[in-house]
Amino acid sequence: MSYGLLEGKKGIIFGALNNQSIAWKVAERCHEEGAEFILSNAPIGLRMGELNELAEKTGSEIIGADATSVEDLEKLFDAAEEKYGKLDFILHSIGMSVNVRKGRHYTDMNYDWTAKGWDISAGSFHKILQTVWKKDLMNEWASILALSYIAAQRNFPDYNDMADNKAYLESIARSFGVYFGERKVRVNTISQSPTPTTAGTGVKGFGGFISFAEDMSPLGNATADECADFCVAMFSDLTRKITMQNLYHDGGFSAMGVSQKVIDRYTGEN
Ligand SMILES: NC(=O)c1ccc[n+]([C@@H]2O[C@H](COP(=O)([O-])OP(=O)(O)OC[C@H]3O[C@@H](n4cnc5c(N)ncnc54)[C@H](O)[C@@H]3O)[C@@H](O)[C@H]2O)c1
Repeated sequence: MSYGLLEGKKGIIFGALNNQSIAWKVAERCHEEGAEFILSNAPIGLRMGELNELAEKTGSEIIGADATSVEDLEKLFDAAEEKYGKLDFILHSIGMSVNVRKGRHYTDMNYDWTAKGWDISAGSFHKILQTVWKKDLMNEWASILALSYIAAQRNFPDYNDMADNKAYLESIARSFGVYFGERKVRVNTISQSPTPTTAGTGVKGFGGFISFAEDMSPLGNATADECADFCVAMFSDLTRKITMQNLYHDGGFSAMGVSQKVIDRYTGEN
């Protein structure tokens, strides 16, 4: 259902890889709500070719950018300015840990990989913010979002250095949010439930912790489609005074100690 919440708004959506990606669902919902946007991903993400389908469906242009490259970002935002003028929203939906991908344990990190994973998952958010800040590219009441995970606050086995990257990512939203406040621009992170995507299922034991989170969350896990609805709300004019927050979108998981369902498993009643 469309409410026309993003009618006339222009933005950039980073990180749609395939139709499982959270950014893919966000793009579909933003399109339904009347937004126009550029889709961006790293050159390697574009080579997979699936993004063309989304671009066609949403009438969007694709502009590649390695989000760790300030030069690529400058070119992308220059092209966006030429196309739209100032922007109303940005989604950072980018994450990757080389240590996780290559099965390297937290107690035995390869620090080159740690640095690369930090740059992709957290540094890139600062680089995007700094690029649009310097170009003064956001309209008043624009909204900038990045996607996070509760491993920034609590320990989850095998989330590895992504936990540290997410803590840094959330901190960037708070730190840069102050400056963007001067320009009436919001900067927030959304802490999403485990979601079966390429990045999500790359974490060892993912099947276990998505089921555990489901049993712990009074409302159940939030899906990628539901995350897209929340992003639309956060890009809309209905949430203009929310900034510098990490917003849990997790069916209540973050407020739980233990659920009856999980207790029942241990007492053999389930
Ligand atoms: N899936 C989950 O369980 C879950 C839960 C909470 C938060 N998140 C976060 O949501 C975001 C999106 O992930 P997803 O689950 O949709 O998976 P995904 O694999 O579909 O998306 C990750 C994206 O990051 C892109 N990317 C990687 N390196 C890049 C670079 N250098 N420059 C530009 N883009 C690059 C990939 O091409 C891909 O499109 C990530 O930040 C992830 O950590 C995911």
